[in-house]
Amino acid sequence: MVFFQGLGLMNEILTIKDLSKSFGAVVASDKVNFSLKQGEIHALIGPNGAGKSTLIKQIIGEIKQDSGSIFLDNLEVSKCHVPERIRLGLARTFQITNVISDFSVFQNLLLAVIGIEKKEFTFFSKAENNKLIVRKVSNVLEETNLLDKKDEIAARLSHGERRQLEIGLALALEPKVILLDEPMAGLSVDIIEKMKKSFTNIKARVPILLIEHDMNVVFAIADRISVLVNGRVLATGTPRDIKMNAEVRTAYLGKE
Ligand SMILES: Nc1ncnc2c1ncn2[C@@H]1O[C@H](COP(=O)(O)OP(=O)(O)OP(=O)(O)O)[C@@H](O)[C@H]1O
Ligand SMILES: [Mg+2]
Repeated sequence: MVFFQGLGLMNEILTIKDLSKSFGAVVASDKVNFSLKQGEIHALIGPNGAGKSTLIKQIIGEIKQDSGSIFLDNLEVSKCHVPERIRLGLARTFQITNVISDFSVFQNLLLAVIGIEKKEFTFFSKAENNKLIVRKVSNVLEETNLLDKKDEIAARLSHGERRQLEIGLALALEPKVILLDEPMAGLSVDIIEKMKKSFTNIKARVPILLIEHDMNVVFAIADRISVLVNGRVLATGTPRDIKMNAEVRTAYLGKE
């Protein structure tokens, strides 16, 4: 059994070493060490202003760290520009994405997959008949729970379904990791349930760094949790470890 773990089932895909960033007197990241392993959802929690979003922005390269380093699949990316990091396999979703409103869910995903396949499809219909491409689109539809919405025009999707499509578009690029900053914010309870299931599907292929304020969601789906307070990682562990951690309870969970 130990041997299986040694085979790399839980390999680190993203590794952050001693990352620090200050905005004037505010220390947003204070020697942060963090990792994301194959097959896991690693939730990053902490009070408002703790530095969670700033950490994701440094990972993707929107904000430059003052010191420390970021490795993706053992390759240092901390000095790369954003497009280079995306090309190497970092993905995040943005509020403004490339969703084409009058295309169906299927067609939107098809375009994204065609983009990474780098094949020339003069006509959409050719791609639609390509088995590999259609299989990739179907996988994403399944992972994001959008199979029953595949022929829906994107403009007609609900707020939650659109959020799922945005995540699907990120997944269609076949990233090595996906970074999600409060993806459930503002969604209804039943959509949140769907998203929880979807994240559990996705993590098998792409590990997820999840920033989330809803502790019910975090404790239900995270494999590991890191607690960030004042830019510092207070603790990292299983949901059970974190729940029992006295320091975490005093600094954060106890207040909820
Ligand atoms: N561009 C910036 N310039 C100056 N200060 C910033 C900047 N971005 C973030 N900060 C500060 O850094 C700290 C961390 O902010 P950050 O947005 O990372 O927190 P957060 O944990 O994501 O909070 P929330 O849960 O409210 O989203 C805060 O004190 C914030 O005001
Ligand atoms: Mg934030």
